[in-house]
Amino acid sequence: MNRRRFIKSSLLLAMTSTLPRVVLATNPSAGFDYELIVAPADVNIVPGGSTPALSFNGGYPSPVIRAKQHQPVRIRVVNQLNEPTTIHWHGMRIPIGMDGVPFLSQPPIMPGETFDYEFTPPDAGSFWYHPHMNSVEQLGKGLVGALIVDEAEKPDFDADLVLCMKKWHIKDDGSFTALTTPQNAFRMGTPGRVMTINGEMHPTYDVPAGGAIRVRFLNVDNTLVYDVKSTDSDAQIIAIDGNPIAQPRTLGNHLIAPGMRLDLGVIASSKVGETVTFKHKNKPLVTLRTVASKLKDRRLPTLPLNPIPAPDLENAETIKFAFEWNANITPIHKDGKVNYNFWTMNRRSWEGMSKGNIPAPLAKLELGKTYIFELANLTQYHHPIHIHGHTFTVLKSNKKAITPFHTDTVLLGQNETVIAALVADNPGRWMYHCHIIEHLKTGFMGYVEVS
Ligand code: C2O
Ligand code: CU
Repeated sequence: MNRRRFIKSSLLLAMTSTLPRVVLATNPSAGFDYELIVAPADVNIVPGGSTPALSFNGGYPSPVIRAKQHQPVRIRVVNQLNEPTTIHWHGMRIPIGMDGVPFLSQPPIMPGETFDYEFTPPDAGSFWYHPHMNSVEQLGKGLVGALIVDEAEKPDFDADLVLCMKKWHIKDDGSFTALTTPQNAFRMGTPGRVMTINGEMHPTYDVPAGGAIRVRFLNVDNTLVYDVKSTDSDAQIIAIDGNPIAQPRTLGNHLIAPGMRLDLGVIASSKVGETVTFKHKNKPLVTLRTVASKLKDRRLPTLPLNPIPAPDLENAETIKFAFEWNANITPIHKDGKVNYNFWTMNRRSWEGMSKGNIPAPLAKLELGKTYIFELANLTQYHHPIHIHGHTFTVLKSNKKAITPFHTDTVLLGQNETVIAALVADNPGRWMYHCHIIEHLKTGFMGYVEVS
């Protein structure tokens, strides 16, 4: 199968843009499966309005990248922004050189430059991609997309919906509102105004009547924690944050914080024209409507588990991480100056990073060893804590019962402490941060070093 994607309109855009011109490879031996052109583009989110977004290939939603478990995928990134960028593959356990973090893993991709990413996904499931520079703006203005890794043996679903959730910071005419304010950054983050699935307000998708449907929710928003429920009381959780769970369970409701994903399995009604709606609290997000099909007696297939290394808890070392506000800091001074190092991890705020200045790691981990992270949220706000290059096994919480599960992003509720283990099996310097983008920009970011 030829997975090369060229999106004509984005080529045109590239030609007419006043930004640095890039000559695009068009011959089949160019050596990549996907090409992502990062460039400004006007997109339509609200009816009749135009949004001056930042885009992959000239539009929104961004192209869905489909890779295959255990098979290499090559993605060329062409930077046509007027600022540097890098692309991070969220949730992928891949070598550090492909992790897409400026200075820790690669030099920034400068305007007009191209960078080829190549990696082999060890895990199958729902992942995503986004820049790791100037994140409030680059992600907030649309540089977010789905990366779906298909199982080595494809499970037998009749439809597979990829749903990127984002509440755009835009007015009714499509123009942007503030992506951040200091007051919000020091609290829960700045909420957007227009709730979308794949860039549309409450879309309806057709699904085959009677079919086994896979519904993948990906929270690509900067701020909002979605609380998802369904009008189908039989909807099953089949995977959390990319990783299938051993025992699928009924949805009820589920919190999906920024960076997190949720895969559901539903058996569509065998009657034509029936609907199922998924909601955030009581607001409809997306509706599925059945159309004629010959399917019957379908069941949800079982997903194979991902090969996440099993932690060796007996010989594990415990490391405590405290997430706090810096109480000694006045976030906004009388003269109006803002102190942007507000959130702390073990009493440290992220000190910034440049080629010649890489701060010390928050922790040094020995290659191959198991660590138990005690993640203590000492604040009254929730924080989704994300680690790069590794997958946690979440074991316990002081606030709720936990059936152990795998994730790259652990959501901590207010004053919650979670115990999560990981095997430090991937050498490198790995980012470790809150995925509320304004929090990571105001200090809530660090890294661990595995060697
Ligand atoms: Cu979604 Cu540092 O990542
Ligand atoms: Cu946070």
